[in-house]
Amino acid sequence: SGERTVENILKPLDLGDDDYRKVMDLMHAELVKGLTPATHEAADIKCYPTYVRSVPDGSENGDFLALDLGGTNFRVLLINLNGQEVKMESKIFIIPQHIMLGSGIQLFDHIADCIFKFMTDHKLTDRKLPLGFTFSFPCRQEGLDRAILTTWTKGFKCAGVEGNDIVQLLHEAIVRRGDMKNVKCLAVINDTVGALMSCAHSDRKCAIGLILGTGTNACYIENLDDVKTWDGDTDEPHEVLINSEWGAFGNGGALDFVLTDFDRSIDKHSINPGKQIYEKMISGMFLGEIARLAIERLRKNNLLFEGEGSYHLSTRGRFYTKYVSEIEGDDVDNFTVTKQIFEELELVTHNEQDYRLVRHVCSLVSRRAAYLASAGIACLLNKMQRKEVTIGVDGSLYRFHPFFHDLMMEKTRALTDAQISFKMMLSHDGSGKGAALVAAVANRLLEEKK
Ligand code: BG6
Ligand code: GLC
Repeated sequence: SGERTVENILKPLDLGDDDYRKVMDLMHAELVKGLTPATHEAADIKCYPTYVRSVPDGSENGDFLALDLGGTNFRVLLINLNGQEVKMESKIFIIPQHIMLGSGIQLFDHIADCIFKFMTDHKLTDRKLPLGFTFSFPCRQEGLDRAILTTWTKGFKCAGVEGNDIVQLLHEAIVRRGDMKNVKCLAVINDTVGALMSCAHSDRKCAIGLILGTGTNACYIENLDDVKTWDGDTDEPHEVLINSEWGAFGNGGALDFVLTDFDRSIDKHSINPGKQIYEKMISGMFLGEIARLAIERLRKNNLLFEGEGSYHLSTRGRFYTKYVSEIEGDDVDNFTVTKQIFEELELVTHNEQDYRLVRHVCSLVSRRAAYLASAGIACLLNKMQRKEVTIGVDGSLYRFHPFFHDLMMEKTRALTDAQISFKMMLSHDGSGKGAALVAAVANRLLEEKK
């Protein structure tokens, strides 16, 4: 298609404000569809009500266990809440690839084993500890402690879990072990909810939780009048946290007008073709691969490395998103880190022009991702119409990319109604803290019932 110039090859990655505004309009329509019973099933963006009705008030206290599954690391945590003060200890456990792609029973048995090891190491086996579970996948919640996985996302695909309540699966695994009768899961939250809750703990204006990590997603506080799918009680506050699951935006074709060959190729080779289209354009699990595909296209047209590639460069998934961040953060006077990465990839010929062009590719890919996420945030801000909003953010992409925050601030400002002010705040250990905070509320309600 046309002349094979650098410009022609990279142009599709460079979107304009008209495109981003169209993305916002389409997203708004999907959010409303997700919140409406008659259209919910057909909506890309499901907008699941979370049963979390209020942000923490600082009175939460006690010891809690938490699980954090679905990001880069699986962790078990012990959290002590005492008003504003939060102490925690945690341990990372590995989930091997064969378990991520194995059976649900294996997965939950493994999780139960990790909890047991953690409790033994911390001498907790005879304590009765409420547990909060940060499970960062799309779930239809039927209560704080009932979460039905609708579909796996990111790198997971365990058989026999979709359509089931993950709290029940966890409890069954605990029963199979037989030696942890005191562990009871009281609440399941999404990582976006964790980010929102943990930031709201110190900033009452926090009303959006955003994850830019392995995957991407956002949750926000919605007025119950607009949540037509809500079937819980309607006492004050007249609000509920909505887990948007915006990563699935585009599954019905809404984003086809901005998709590139690179995006289509990634989707086709993924473990969930046709799903999580918006996520595949934005999040850490995919950005490196988009850059690699563009770099390879340039190389094959003799526009990089004198046309000479390498085994690594032609291997799917081998150009990590970490490289995108590192190359963009590199010093353009000497390209020390870029050279090192090229050597790791065993590229033989490379010169200054190559360093500049690869850096340009990386910046186009991450800029498009940051602007697409900004369109999403601007859409939520305009919908909520709160005067001042803090956005609690977590995830490796946001943490480690040198300019993601700045790119997002700039574009979100440009796309958001002028009278709304907002800021982005890094969430610290949101998944642990958030799960404990929500478990604390659930525990208090249980105690009150007794
Ligand atoms: C972490 C949280 O800080 O951020 C996880 O503990 C969350 O629960 C994660 O899923 C998202 O980022 P990543 O980059 O680990 O996917
Ligand atoms: C995926 C999951 C979602 C999660 C996000 C970030 O999009 O479906 O639940 O919040 O990744 O981890």
